[in-house]
Parts: sequence; structure tokens; C-alpha cells
Amino acid sequence: MKIAFVGKGGSGKTTLSSLFIRHLAAAGRPVIAVDADINQHLGPALGLTDDQAASLPSLGAHLPQIKDYLRGENPLIGSADQMIKTTPPGRGSRLLRIVEENPVYAACARPVALDEGSVRLLVTGAFTEADLGVACYHSKVGAVELLLNHLVDGRDEYVVTDMTAGSDSFASGLFTRFDLTFLVAEPTRKGISVYRQYKEYARDFGVALRVIGNKVQGPDDLAFLRREAGDDLLAAFGHSEWVRRLEQGAEPPLRTLEPANRAVLELLRHEADAAHDRRDPQRYTRQAVQFHLRNAESWGNAKAGIDLATQVDEEFVLGSDRAATAGAHA
Ligand SMILES: Nc1ncnc2c1ncn2[C@@H]1O[C@H](COP(=O)(O)OP(=O)(O)OP(=O)(O)O)[C@@H](O)[C@H]1O
Ligand SMILES: [Mg+2]
Repeated sequence: MKIAFVGKGGSGKTTLSSLFIRHLAAAGRPVIAVDADINQHLGPALGLTDDQAASLPSLGAHLPQIKDYLRGENPLIGSADQMIKTTPPGRGSRLLRIVEENPVYAACARPVALDEGSVRLLVTGAFTEADLGVACYHSKVGAVELLLNHLVDGRDEYVVTDMTAGSDSFASGLFTRFDLTFLVAEPTRKGISVYRQYKEYARDFGVALRVIGNKVQGPDDLAFLRREAGDDLLAAFGHSEWVRRLEQGAEPPLRTLEPANRAVLELLRHEADAAHDRRDPQRYTRQAVQFHLRNAESWGNAKAGIDLATQVDEEFVLGSDRAATAGAHA
């Protein structure tokens, strides 16, 4: 399952995604945690020290290697140089699985031990001084789009992505690459305005979106969220002393999280699992192609010096089980 956490800056995306990740890991589920935010905070939220987090390898720095691996023997992709972030997989491409060893994980993923269970963490990498004025953040996030487009994941295994704030997510096709998007909203007009905007952009692409209220302090807050988000509201996570202790540097075990908040995490898991049955691999693949063609036309063809539309393998559909490894439906 491919799950994203989005929302306004400071709404609690990192807090809730890290707690959701911990909740899944505690249940023994395989999880890949992805930090795709320009401000990289997921590592520390999962318990890494700042030094450990700073020394994580970044996806952004390994793009050529990642492209070369994913390209595999795909005859439609001449070289890694001709691969852009949206180049879709086709027959011959190498696909990734959540539970496996591969050169991409060896280079970029790091195991993070939690108080219950452990996960693999991938980070896009921070915006460095060398990037100022020459690179845009979307080139780093592109690595995540590429990975998700090549990832075959099944029921009960998860990629959980902490996304960049607000509607910056729409700068690429990344927002369409998830089975379910949790929009974290504080019970405020600003929190809800990001939800409205997201819903509008997401509507045209059939993005499954549920609102998670956060820092909810009482019945009035809840009533506000219900009124504003209606049926899109899935759950409300309370203002949490446990989260506050965490923020103060304590390392409270997950089992001591307030029961009502733990119940919210379980609800999120149910919702994520239910999204599995609504998957549509054909649509998923079609959208990947659609974004590729748009990117090819707007900048990719000029950059690569070839017509990147020729990279599309019309016969290929990204499968969702191990059985569909080859991906092609023929
Ligand atoms: N339920 C909660 N109870 C108490 N404090 C919370 C809760 N959720 C988040 N916070 C606090 O709010 C602040 C912002 O949370 P967080 O960093 O998770 O937000 P974010 O959306 O990831 O922010 P950014 O946009 O900067 O990445 C943090 O100090 C966090 O500890
Ligand atoms: Mg954050």
C-alpha cells in the first residue's frame, strides 16, 4: 500500500506519519518510510539523532544509479541519461518490492530500529547550498515518483511518505502515486483551506483523500472539522501530551500513547487496508504515462534530445502482486 501524509506546514504530517509508521511496525508489518519533505524531519521523528539523520544517504544524490537499476533491460530506454523522473516502467524494467534486497535499498535505505519493530527509511535529501538557484526541490522528489512507479506492493506491506507542505505536492505527478492520501488538518480555517485546495486538485485525478484532524482539543474542534470536511473526515487525533514529551526529547514507548490516539492509528491502518480493494492498476499505469508525456513535452524531450514518448510500453501494466512480477498483462 502506498500511503501519503499531506497538509499545511506545521499541521502534524511528520508526527502522524511517524506514528503511523511505528504503529504498522509494531504490528509486524513491513514498512518503507519515505521523507519527501523539503525540511527533512522524518528520521528524527523515528528516533534518529540529528547526526544520524544528517548522515543518511539521499535518493537525490543517487538518481543516476537508481535510474540505471530500474531501467534494467527495457529496450525502450536507451540509457539512464534518457530516463527522467516520470519515465514509466515497461517490459524489461526492474521493479522494486517492499520486502527484498536490491541495489537501490543498499545504496539509499537505512534500517531504523523502533521501540517495537523496525522500518527502512529513504530520504530525498535536504536542499543544500549547492542546489540554491540551480536545482529545484522537485528534482529530488522526482526520485520518489520514479520509485513508486516501479514499486510492486501487496496487501499488508506499506510505503508511508511524509510529503512536502501545502499544495507544493502538485508540482509533480507524485500526488497521484498513492493508494490513499491522509490530509492532516488542524481545526482551523487555514488547516481546512489546504484540504479544500487539495481536494480540488485531487478530484480530477481520482486521488483517494481522507482528512485526519490533528491537535483536536474538544467537541468544538471536532464539530468544526465535521462541518468543514464532512464525510472526508476519517478521524481526529487529539492534542497529545505524549507527542509533547517526544518533542521535549523523551523517548516514550509507543504502547504508552494515549489509547484514543492509538485507536486513531488503528483506524488509519484499516482505511489503508481497505484501499487495497479499490486499486486500479490500469489507471495507475495510465496516469504514470500521462504525467510522463506532459513532462516530456514541457521539458524532458529538450533535455534528453529525443522524443521521450517512445519510452512508453503500451502493453505494460504495473501489477500489484508478486504473481504479476513481470507486469505485462499478455
Ligand atoms: N497531536 C499533537 N499533539 C501535540 N503536539 C503536536 C501534535 N501533532 C503535532 N504536534 C506538534 O506540532 C508541531 C508540528 O508538527 P509536525 O512537525 O509533525 O508538523 P509538519 O506538518 O510535519 O510540519 P512541517 O510542515 O514543518 O513539516 C511539532 O512541534 C509537533 O510536536
Ligand atoms: Mg514535517
